[in-house]
Amino acid sequence: MRVLSVASEVFPLVKTGGLADVAGALPRALAAEDVEMRVMLPGYRDVLGALGGTKVVKRYKSLFGAEARLIAGSAGGLDLIVLDAPKLFDRPGNPYLGPDGADWPDNWQRFAALCRAAADIGEGAVEAFVPDVVHCHDWQAGLTPAYLRHAGRKAAKSVATIHNIAFQGRFPASIFASLGLPPEAWAVEGVEYYGGVGFLKAGLHYADAITTVSPTYAEEICTPAGGMGLDGLLRARRSVLSGIVNGIDAAVWDPTTDPHLAANYTATTLPRRALNKRAVEEAFGLARDDGFLFCVVSRLGWQKGMDILGACIDGLVARGARLAVLGSGEAAIEGMFRAAVARHPGRVGIVTGYSEPLSHLLQGGSDSVLVPSRFEPCGLTQFYGLRYGCVPLVSQVGGLADTVIDANLAALDRGVATGLQFLPVEAPALDRAIGRAVDLHRDAKAWRKLQQNGMKSDLSWTASARRYADLYRSLLG
Ligand code: ADP
Ligand code: GLC
Repeated sequence: MRVLSVASEVFPLVKTGGLADVAGALPRALAAEDVEMRVMLPGYRDVLGALGGTKVVKRYKSLFGAEARLIAGSAGGLDLIVLDAPKLFDRPGNPYLGPDGADWPDNWQRFAALCRAAADIGEGAVEAFVPDVVHCHDWQAGLTPAYLRHAGRKAAKSVATIHNIAFQGRFPASIFASLGLPPEAWAVEGVEYYGGVGFLKAGLHYADAITTVSPTYAEEICTPAGGMGLDGLLRARRSVLSGIVNGIDAAVWDPTTDPHLAANYTATTLPRRALNKRAVEEAFGLARDDGFLFCVVSRLGWQKGMDILGACIDGLVARGARLAVLGSGEAAIEGMFRAAVARHPGRVGIVTGYSEPLSHLLQGGSDSVLVPSRFEPCGLTQFYGLRYGCVPLVSQVGGLADTVIDANLAALDRGVATGLQFLPVEAPALDRAIGRAVDLHRDAKAWRKLQQNGMKSDLSWTASARRYADLYRSLLG
């Protein structure tokens, strides 16, 4: 079976969040299920620079006003089909935002072009790779199922995966005429969404199957609060919607070999983590201390609940704990953390920007990773925490609810707890959970058990890859 996976970011080539990790890990995970997956992504400057073994497999005189080519090649250990359209994608840095931090004004053309070309491949335009299924990730790939459905000839089946329903790809109605879809697609039973064009909406309407990245999030997005405008459509399509939880790339995230750590360790050499703690203190300007260290590795935005954490920092420090924050995003949230650093020098530290090495070091040297998200489709940082013995403290929502076992009395009693959860997602509940973690940590044996449970839990892609493969097969009948 051949599957084309269409994504706007793929680790290790271009990454702003978990989507890249997932898109990068899926092909290898699915190979074990006899699925040959190729990843299609835009030819951003960094991607083209890394691409090897290239072959042009299709040319366009004009694709949304840009001269374009499809190039098959490989990079970062992945087989890729790259849409090379310099006018649209030959830009440095963030794949979605210009240097001013705002969305590129031509984002609709950029990602409509990606979708049009993906659908062409789904219709058999590239002889070397004719997929049975096109798997579309998030709004950037959302128009693909619309094009496939209106193809007018035999085309691949489609799967739309929601990694984050907050990003919907909404554009004014005026762009519809340029999309190359038939007039009947301009309808509620089509791409129309609250008077405009909705890329994600289109994907959810036309795809043969819909998935999201955890069972709990699949439930949440069918409610008005979680669906953010798309819950009605999702309820109507409930029978083709499922939640398949993400896994992690165990080769990239392995504390026994991780090159970004000051000291590698296993579940039986946990004291070696102290050397990583020393390195974290150094990098984040924290005082040397063997006491409790919390960390954050996150986009700094509303979704991630960082303002809620902000309200708990003084309490965290009053309990004798410290906090190291690695994040990038909203200036106001960064400012909030900077003010906390000023109030608690040596106890709170922040590094802003994106750093893959520091994200690994924090998991290898902190005692607990905080993930107080308001909503979280799956979340990957809690998985990395589990694998690294950095006990996750998470809100009980979405994938966080599905993947962490709270250290309540019953779970502690049976020896199955892997972390701490709190609800509602508000400061008093988070504050209590922080207190619970610090108290639990005083019992070194109990804490070590939490760490070891997490480290031995199955975070692999094996079961989920099988579920995706079964889903693809079910579409082919
Ligand atoms: P989301 O995709 O919503 O941001 P996830 O938890 O699924 O959340 O994935 C986040 C990914 O991005 C993880 O791999 C995490 O380690 C990484 N990450 C987030 N912020 C940073 C940062 N500032 N520096 C390095 N890695 C980061
Ligand atoms: C999104 C979600 C995150 C999820 C990731 C990968 O960015 O916010 O929860 O883990 O996609 O599926």
